[in-house]
Amino acid sequence: MLPEKEQQRIIEQPEQLIEAIQQLVVRGAPAIGVAAAYGLCLAIRGCKDIDTVRSRFREALPALRSARPTAVNLQHMVDRMADLESSAECEHLDGAALKERLLSEARAIDEQDQQCCQAIGESGASLIADGATVLTHCNAGALATAGTGTALSVLYEAWKQGKRFQVLAGETRPLLQGSRLTAWELHKNGIPVEVICDGAAGSFFYNGEIDVVITGSDRVAANGDAANKIGTYTIASLAKAHQVPFYIAAPSTSFDLSIASGDEIPIEQRSADEIWSPTSQQQPPEGIGHRNPAFDVTPASHIAGWITEVGILHPPFEEIRR
Ligand code: MRU
Repeated sequence: MLPEKEQQRIIEQPEQLIEAIQQLVVRGAPAIGVAAAYGLCLAIRGCKDIDTVRSRFREALPALRSARPTAVNLQHMVDRMADLESSAECEHLDGAALKERLLSEARAIDEQDQQCCQAIGESGASLIADGATVLTHCNAGALATAGTGTALSVLYEAWKQGKRFQVLAGETRPLLQGSRLTAWELHKNGIPVEVICDGAAGSFFYNGEIDVVITGSDRVAANGDAANKIGTYTIASLAKAHQVPFYIAAPSTSFDLSIASGDEIPIEQRSADEIWSPTSQQQPPEGIGHRNPAFDVTPASHIAGWITEVGILHPPFEEIRR
C-alpha cells in the first residue's frame, strides 16, 4: 500500500503468513526468514500436549519453507527452528516448555537480524564518500529486514557519520519496490533521494553521475554470484562497463555456501498481472504471453565486495563458513 497508505496486518495463522509472504506483504530476504520463524510459533500457539505441539510444528515446516524459492534466509531460518525442535536440548521438554523455547529462538533470530543490519551498516559506511551519488535497486531497507536494512543500513550509517550524499532509487519494475518503498524510507529518514526509471540507469552511468552502487541480495552462492531483484544484473553490467564499483550488502544468513554458483539458485517466476497492473490497472491482454522472473543473478566478476556483518568479504567467504 505504500507510499499512499501505511497499514499493519495482524497475522494469526501460518497459512495467513504464507499468503502474506507470497503477496509480498512481508518481503525482502531477511524479513521473510524472521517472519517464518514466528510463523512456526503461530502453528503451535493453541496446542498443549507435547505430541500435538511436535506434530503441528512439523506439519507446518514444508509449506513455510517453500513459500518463496529464491531467498535462502527463509529455508535457513525454518531449518534452524526445525533443528532445534528435534535437538537433544528439546528432547525431554513438555508442550509448554517446548513452545516457550521455540518462541525464544524466533525472538533470537529477530534480534540477530537487527544486529546484523547495524553491523552491515558499520562495515560498509566507509564506501560512501562525502558528496557521492549512490544507486540502489529494489528495497533492501527496514521494509526488508527486522532492523534498518542491508544496503540502506550502509546509507543510514554513513549519514549518521556526517557524510552527505544523494541516492538514486531505481523504480524496480514490475512491483516498484524502489519507487514505492526505498524512496519512501529514505525520504522519511531525511536522505535525499530521486527515483529513476529502470531504463534510465544507463544514461546516468554514461553521464558519469553514479559513484557507487549498493544493493541487497536474496542468495549468495559459494563463488560470490548473487541473486537479487530482477534488473540488478543490468545495473551491475552497466557499473562494470563504466568502472563504477558495485557492492552487495547481505547478512551471512543470505549466503548459501552449499551451492557452487548462481546457476543453482532457483528463480521465482511470478504472474503476468504484475507486469500489467501496477501502471495501468489492466488485465493481461488475451493472446499475449509473459515472462516475469522476479530475480536475476549477478556474477561474482561484477561485484567489488560483499558487505556483511563481519566486514567486507570476498569468495571463498572463510569468515562465515560454519
Ligand atoms: O521480491 P522482493 O521484494 O522480496 O525482493 C527483495 C529483494 O530483491 C531485496 O533486494 C533482497 O531481498 C535483499 S533485502 C535486504
